[in-house]
Amino acid sequence: MKTVADLPRPVFPEDYSTRVGQFLAECYEIHGPIFARNLDGTELVYLVGPEANRFVLLENRAAFSHDLGWTPIMGEIMGKGLLNMDGAPHDAQRKMMNPAFTQDYMDRYLPIMNRVIDRYVSSWLEQGTVNVYEEARKITFDVAAEALVGFSDQTEIDEFRRLFTQLLMGNGEDTTQEQAFQTAMTTKDTISKMLLEQIEQRRSSPTDDVLGMLVRARDGSGNALSDGQLLGHTNILLVAGHETSTSLSAWLLCLLAQNPDYTARIRAELTAVLGDKDPHLEGVKQLKVLGYALSEAERLYPPVANAPRGTVQDFEFNGFHIPAGTRVIYSIAASHQLPHIWQNPASFDPDRFAPPREEDKKNQFALVGFGGGPRVCIGMNFATVEMKAMIAQILRRFDLTLEPGFKPYQVYFGATGMPFGGIQLRVSARA
Ligand code: HEM
Repeated sequence: MKTVADLPRPVFPEDYSTRVGQFLAECYEIHGPIFARNLDGTELVYLVGPEANRFVLLENRAAFSHDLGWTPIMGEIMGKGLLNMDGAPHDAQRKMMNPAFTQDYMDRYLPIMNRVIDRYVSSWLEQGTVNVYEEARKITFDVAAEALVGFSDQTEIDEFRRLFTQLLMGNGEDTTQEQAFQTAMTTKDTISKMLLEQIEQRRSSPTDDVLGMLVRARDGSGNALSDGQLLGHTNILLVAGHETSTSLSAWLLCLLAQNPDYTARIRAELTAVLGDKDPHLEGVKQLKVLGYALSEAERLYPPVANAPRGTVQDFEFNGFHIPAGTRVIYSIAASHQLPHIWQNPASFDPDRFAPPREEDKKNQFALVGFGGGPRVCIGMNFATVEMKAMIAQILRRFDLTLEPGFKPYQVYFGATGMPFGGIQLRVSARA
């Protein structure tokens, strides 16, 4: 049996962070589904392709730790939420949260989504040129703050968004690591104080939002979650739930602005299904042409490119023995670029998801923008409904074109990515 020392070791190019999927898919073509890299002294083993995804996400998932994968990337500062928990505690707490994320529960969130989307996009025409990445962040964050955590006062939501963005991206002023750390700690304390007030309110007057559910939940021995656990879950839901939807919806708008023929088909579908009504759940479920475009944006610009795991049991894959303790990455972005699965993988072609082609259906683990298996993204329905409502409201009102001379591109930092410099679109009244 071959070992880690025998793994192929491709040389990563300098522009790797802007073409993660393409490069790792090329490595798959040359070396097969498993290869390695030493990054600043840490061995990283890459697992690529649908079979590798099935292995990590389903068949051999007990060998992999989400905590040892994600916590070093996010830092201890966020605490523990579903994304970076393992084993029985994870499963019990996911079970508690699942009801708030089912497709039918989205009926409660959609009016909030519609209202927040309307509030932001109604000033787009005056603005003329809009950074849709920044606008999408305001929308997705405000929706999450209201629907998941129960904030209702806009001044408080604005402050909460400012603090959270600062926690994730820094304040742009700190020049040393020590300063940045101090800012992060102070920001985190202020966020925790705001959240603890919400938690106390839930304890005295229960609500149906996710935080309300978590506050009410009891384990088998009747114990409630501690303040620390509640803070961890809320932080992780907000982190996992807003930056991802922000970048994916911005990329979808960018792709539609560049593909007017496909956009016309989405508009025809919107008129047929929704007429002039606000997006509603039954209608949103029927928006197939829009759904294919969303899947294509997910394939081309997955917000999570490389999902990390720590290995807790030795495993064997494709003839290699990998010991416990190894850091592993299953590459979402690379799976989405494999030419034996996707016809012309670099091109925007949403019809690849429509019958009769249905390229994604040939393998359950080919399209994995939301992960897969029992730990598939819990917010997938939430994000899908929100992004469809956003696109429906925007396309109904505006024509969009890419700002002349602006070249958007995706940059990945570690696991996740974003359109660097945002996405600038010109907005005009619909012709
Ligand atoms: C376009 C939007 C989104 C994308 C692309 C996305 C992507 C992902 C991916 C790839 C995973 C699995 C990571 C892994 O295997 O290690 C994941 C897990 C997760 N996501 Fe999302 N996500 C999105 C939206 C959301 C939203 C809106 C929420 C919350 C409201 C959310 C909450 C979570 C949580 C809590 C997990 C961990 C689930 C578990 O391990 O049990 N995500 N997401």
